[in-house]
Amino acid sequence: MTAFIEDHRESYIQTIRLNRADKKNALTPEMYLAIAQALHSAQSDKKVRVTVLTGSGDSFTAGNDIGDFVSTSNAPKGEKSLTQGPAPFPTFLGALMAADKPVIAAINGLAIGVGVTMLMHCDMVYAADTARFGMPFVNLGAVPEAGSSVLIPNMLGRMRAMELFLLGDQFNAQKAQELGFVNAVFPAAQLMQEVMAIAARIAAKPPSAIRETKRLVREHGALLEKAIREEGRTFDAQLRTPESKEAMKAFSERRPADFSRFE
Ligand code: COA
Repeated sequence: MTAFIEDHRESYIQTIRLNRADKKNALTPEMYLAIAQALHSAQSDKKVRVTVLTGSGDSFTAGNDIGDFVSTSNAPKGEKSLTQGPAPFPTFLGALMAADKPVIAAINGLAIGVGVTMLMHCDMVYAADTARFGMPFVNLGAVPEAGSSVLIPNMLGRMRAMELFLLGDQFNAQKAQELGFVNAVFPAAQLMQEVMAIAARIAAKPPSAIRETKRLVREHGALLEKAIREEGRTFDAQLRTPESKEAMKAFSERRPADFSRFE
């Protein structure tokens, strides 16, 4: 277990906290694996009936660690994959999708990239009024992941999904609620208290009825699995393009990227 992930279990509630605040809780391979392990071990822990996933500092998570994108983009094709087989990201996503107990996300601040797409696999989402959301995949020369190319258009309709994907702009908690990413918005100082009260209500209910309800509602079609595979293949290929290398170089140099020379 990396120090960047806390797993606290009390009163039938597991709280998984991303704890890398100085890097906006950007997710490293070790963090993905630690979250997967925490979710996995909760499944057989009778003392866990519901999981709360949250961040620390001013962020939920700024998404995948860009350093990890850079090392993938520089690795020869076939040598390193972010998205296929037993790599940390699919291990994390698989654990989240397989969780048979409810997962509630408490969005305490910035939620970028996978910080948004993972919400499509959580059961309920609550946000601080200071939270901000964004899916800047194309800005990095990459593409949507975690099944979001299917799940987000299904949720929002194609045009609203495309606006978020193609512009990659940030949006606030109120807009996130209007769009359906978020159940409710609370003042930042009250977020955790409100979410823990909701989690406690779920934890007090008949556990098998809760699990069976989740099993019935879960969206696990062959189409979703296929989309995740295709997204992953495309994501890996895109990271190796000169466009993506320019985007990541620009991020590290803190300047706007210049895509004018690409076709
Ligand atoms: N991966 C690695 N490091 C990241 C990161 C990421 N995804 N997001 C932020 N950080 C780091 C920054 O490099 C910086 O590190 P430093 O202090 O050592 O320089 C630190 O976190 C603080 O980030 P900073 O950019 O100074 O904060 P900000 O408030 O000005 O902006 C963000 C916050 C999230 C808008 C901005 O950091 C950002 O755009 N990050 C990239 C998000 C992204 O594209 N994620 C992938 C999505 S597919």
